[in-house]
Amino acid sequence: MQRDLANQSAILPSLPARSPKHSTEAEAGAIPWKKFSGRISYSSCNEDSRSELKALRLGAGKRVFCITAGGGRVLNLLYDRPQEIVAVDVNPTQNYLLELKIAAMRALNHERYLAFLGVRPARDRLKVYQNLRPDLSSAAGAFFDAHPQVVRRGALFQGSLERFLVHVARVTHVVRPIWINRLFKFDDIAKQRHFLEGWNTRAWRFVGETLCRRSFLEMFSRDPGFWRFVPPEVPLHKRIFDLMHRYLCNHLARDSHLLQLVFFARYVYEPAMPIYLLPGSFERIREALKTTQITIVTAPAAAALADLADGSFDGYSIADVSSYLSEADFGTLMDEIMRTARADARLCSRGIFAHRPLPPDHVHHVRRDHNLERRLSFDDLAMVHEFLVGTLQTRSG
Ligand SMILES: C[S@@+](CC[C@H](N)C(=O)[O-])C[C@H]1O[C@@H](n2cnc3c(N)ncnc32)[C@H](O)[C@@H]1O
Repeated sequence: MQRDLANQSAILPSLPARSPKHSTEAEAGAIPWKKFSGRISYSSCNEDSRSELKALRLGAGKRVFCITAGGGRVLNLLYDRPQEIVAVDVNPTQNYLLELKIAAMRALNHERYLAFLGVRPARDRLKVYQNLRPDLSSAAGAFFDAHPQVVRRGALFQGSLERFLVHVARVTHVVRPIWINRLFKFDDIAKQRHFLEGWNTRAWRFVGETLCRRSFLEMFSRDPGFWRFVPPEVPLHKRIFDLMHRYLCNHLARDSHLLQLVFFARYVYEPAMPIYLLPGSFERIREALKTTQITIVTAPAAAALADLADGSFDGYSIADVSSYLSEADFGTLMDEIMRTARADARLCSRGIFAHRPLPPDHVHHVRRDHNLERRLSFDDLAMVHEFLVGTLQTRSG
């Protein structure tokens, strides 16, 4: 059954598993997704959606397939006003969060939106939620009714990752409170770089690398396991630490909303929040909600695509899901992407540390934009992603 939200957005129920090839387990390898589906794993947007906007070249008449995650990565795409977004996540709670963010955006002005989501203080979030409740699907409403603390504390920072970052921020503040506050004051990259020269002390490296260790992340982050396909010989802790250092040598700390979360567990410099939260783009995105159709689907990405017709999309924003997939399941996802792509559709995919190669069948059907890939990998504020960006050469194209 499909239910229309106001202004043309639609919520679809979970897709049934269509065949063993497309079942959740088959696609997601050993990740027990059911274990993660009762809670929000990611509530903010930890990526830099400016990368997706540059890569996908959306606009009027474009249809785009987008992984939901915290919902922000879907809302940010509205900046370019595509005709339709199909937002997909294997975890239904991520989609409930997107519903909540959409309903709130329709109902609230910018200031009240920031307060409701938790960027700014508010005492009446549950009251606001009661007004939004009729605009949610029954499943989303039931979820937030059963978890009022998520709304009361400000849903934007209630994901497992964001709550893990509260502890990270506490630890880093115990070790280097003055240093961190100074780091986030710089508005000149040359001065920040100079300041960083003294940062790489043994104690600091020890703390940073401990927090980024595979074993530590496995135990405390509650992430399903982005490290599963990172070869064991890659020292996760050193890579994360070094990539953060490279980023900070070339970009202002305060301009990264992810680093704000890492060091403060909240947004301390509002001009650098995700696009949909910025005053300059909030109204534009709110307007786009009136015309862009948003269809929300709970299913593994390949299964969601398998249900759709050939030639459905002009763009694919698949986040870093490839890092969570086995080789074979990445192949199945690429098969479905190629089948459902319109002529000259664009693909934007992220890989953690490295992007796995395209399956041999597809290598010659993606015209990759290596220059753009390199630029995005260097500038993207998520810091740890390598990009695969290109134009899809479909059989029809
Ligand atoms: C891969 S995670 C990473 C978070 C992301 N980097 C961010 O900033 O939000 C993003 C989302 O992908 C979803 N996901 C992972 N594998 C999936 C799959 N095969 N199909 C659909 N969604 C998937 C997870 O449930 C999660 O909500």
